[in-house]
Amino acid sequence: METEQERDSSPPQPGRRWVSALLGAGVLASIASFLYPALRYVLPPRIAESTSSSVVAAKVGQLKDNTGIVFRFGSEPAILIHTPDGKYVAFTAVCTHLGCTVQYRSDLHEIWCPCHNGMYSLTGQNVSGPPPRPLAAYKVHVQGEDIVVSRSA
Ligand code: FES
Repeated sequence: METEQERDSSPPQPGRRWVSALLGAGVLASIASFLYPALRYVLPPRIAESTSSSVVAAKVGQLKDNTGIVFRFGSEPAILIHTPDGKYVAFTAVCTHLGCTVQYRSDLHEIWCPCHNGMYSLTGQNVSGPPPRPLAAYKVHVQGEDIVVSRSA
């Protein structure tokens, strides 16, 4: 009869090695599945900041008077507004309160942040609600059929 000691000193069987390897791989995969999201959260993404200082935000005729569009300017949203009196104005669309994306309210003729009901005038000034600062303004000029928005220098 085989004793407990004799059984432990016997060489491991190939089936046991497989089970151990699979269990080890499972444990490693579990650890990786916990660490990967944490590292992705902590480490910034490798997205190159746009060095472009201007972008075509829209085409002439695309925006009726008293309308606005949010467009991408580098890595951030920006807003282009065709004012009720026919001028183009553009600002960052990142609210100065907590960073929500603002939008144009044609019914109020103001720029509105839906997160906490912040309001900005058509000059970008914070006029009501929690936003502490004005929106950064961009320059707008029409080049042929393009409405080009540039960062102020
Ligand atoms: S994030 Fe815009 S008002 Fe709060």
